[in-house]
Amino acid sequence: MQTILETTFGERYGTPPTHLARAPGRVNLIGEHIDYAGLPVFPMAIQREVRIAFRPREDGLVLAATTDPAYAPCHFEVGRDIEAYEDGDWGNYLKAAVQGTVRAYGLERGFDAVIQSTVPVAAGLSSSSALVIATALALSGSNDAEPDPIELAELMADAEQYVGTRGGGMDQAISSGGRAGCAARVEFDPLRVEPVPVPTGWKFVVAHSLVQAHKSGGAREGYNRRRAETEEALARVVRHLEMRETEVRSYRDLLQGTTSSDALAAGESCLEGDLLKRFRHVVTEGARVVRAEAAMRGASMDGFGMLMNGSHASLAEDYEVSIPELDDLVSLAREGGAVGARLTGAGMGGCIVALAPESTVGRVVDRLAGGFYSGRGWSGSLEDHMFVAEPSEGASVARM
Ligand code: GLA
Repeated sequence: MQTILETTFGERYGTPPTHLARAPGRVNLIGEHIDYAGLPVFPMAIQREVRIAFRPREDGLVLAATTDPAYAPCHFEVGRDIEAYEDGDWGNYLKAAVQGTVRAYGLERGFDAVIQSTVPVAAGLSSSSALVIATALALSGSNDAEPDPIELAELMADAEQYVGTRGGGMDQAISSGGRAGCAARVEFDPLRVEPVPVPTGWKFVVAHSLVQAHKSGGAREGYNRRRAETEEALARVVRHLEMRETEVRSYRDLLQGTTSSDALAAGESCLEGDLLKRFRHVVTEGARVVRAEAAMRGASMDGFGMLMNGSHASLAEDYEVSIPELDDLVSLAREGGAVGARLTGAGMGGCIVALAPESTVGRVVDRLAGGFYSGRGWSGSLEDHMFVAEPSEGASVARM
């Protein structure tokens, strides 16, 4: 039986597709808003993914349609300098990926494509980076190129800035470099994705606040402002500590030269207001990631959960990226028996992630369904908004 991708492709282009590229979304378990500070983060690729059925073309055109009628088909030419569509247009993610891949590898042939996604959009689960990675694989596959997954992730993190959000590199890294059954410690500069097996019986429930946070729309300004504030805070602390600005260009550099508690003390004495809060979040979240990895390796679920709770508090109070719906979901998940819960992704909408033992997942899900979703006007199936995330394999491309 043909899949919806194959049927749509045949109807649209009159021939069957030859290849399938796929790239997963991700749930970030801990380490939020610190990738762009150069600090390690701890995400996991999930079973929700972007799939692109494609067929290489002889010329340099990219023709793309999706199985979702909400997204109009688009077409453009492969090149090093592709003019963007209007702000917020989904096709800009394709253009970002194609331009970035061409600049790196000099590819010329385009492709016909139909795209299908099971990653909820604007939910903090990296539907956009999954689209970018899958598109880069479709373009590479059309030109018989086989880029290294980590190199591709690094390239696509830069390429995605095309849409105007100054994102870090976490999403592309885990979508490209994830491993089935594992979360990963992602380090930057140089990029490294170190898999960490998720212990048996640990279940991560993802639940959507029903508030969308569009990376190329409303959430962009809040995101970019936070990033600028963390950079300003760092610069002030570096000056206060009389370190050389040329040598301390990221929080990672800072924390290599001083302990977290000395950095925090320095922050307290030279920062105030929002800058102090942003600084405190980045430094404490960095420390939580280190402890969370140790907790997972040691199978300490309570330890991991406690750090997730600490992360949420810091994101809500110091980074100010939570909203009441996310706080409600977090409280309900804990009431239902989760050992920890936090907002995941950039916040300002999107999802929470909650950790629970397998035996308790049912209760967590019931509590969220009864306490949050019932009575709120959600459409589609509840599974679109709430699911248990499976640690999944990173992106791939294959002949169909
Ligand atoms: C978005 C960005 C990531 C990261 C998270 C917040 O997903 O794309 O790079 O900064 O927000 O942790």
